[in-house]
Amino acid sequence: MTEHIESAVAASIVAKYYPDNTPLRTILVTHSQSVARMAMDVARRHPELAADETFLYEAAILHDIGIFRCNAPGICCTGTEPYIRHGILGAELLRAEGLPRHARVAERHTGTGITVEAIRQQGLPLPLRDYSPETIEEQIVCYADKFFSKTHLERERTPQQVLQSLAKFGPESVARMQQWMSLFS
Ligand SMILES: [Fe+2]
Repeated sequence: MTEHIESAVAASIVAKYYPDNTPLRTILVTHSQSVARMAMDVARRHPELAADETFLYEAAILHDIGIFRCNAPGICCTGTEPYIRHGILGAELLRAEGLPRHARVAERHTGTGITVEAIRQQGLPLPLRDYSPETIEEQIVCYADKFFSKTHLERERTPQQVLQSLAKFGPESVARMQQWMSLFS
C-alpha cells in the first residue's frame, strides 16, 4: 500500500490519532483510501449530484477515524468501546477538531444508517437518535464504505456480496442500498 492522502487537513488528523506506522494505521488508511477512491469516482461520473468533491474526499478519509477507541482485536483496535460506536466516537473527535460536517459523515456511515427503531429493537449502545445519511456526501461515503471490509483490504465486494452483507440489517437496508446502486453506479 502506498499511503498518499491528498488533503493536508485529513492527513494531519490521521497523523495525530494514528501517529505510528502500525498495522492499525495501515488498515485505517488503506480502507479509507479505497472508500475515497470509489466516492470520488461516483462524484465524477455523476456531476448532476453536485457533490462537494474536496469535502467528500476528506470525509471519506476521516469517516473511520474513531476505530482506535474500540475493542475489535481482529482489526488491531485495542480500545474499550463497542465497535458499533466507532462512528459516533469519530464524530466526537472531528467536532473537537472543528469539523462538524465531517463528523456527520462519520456518525452516519454504519450499515446504511442506523435508525432510532433499530437502536431500540436491538438494544444498541448508541444515543437514541437517527443516524441515517442525509446529504449527498453522507450518502456517497456510506454507499462506498459497504464495498470495502477492513479484514480483507485488497478485496472489493461485488454488488451481490454487498447486498448479502446487508441482509442481516433487514429488508429496508437492502432496499436503500439497491436504490443507491441505481443512483451511483
Ligand atoms: Fe469504513
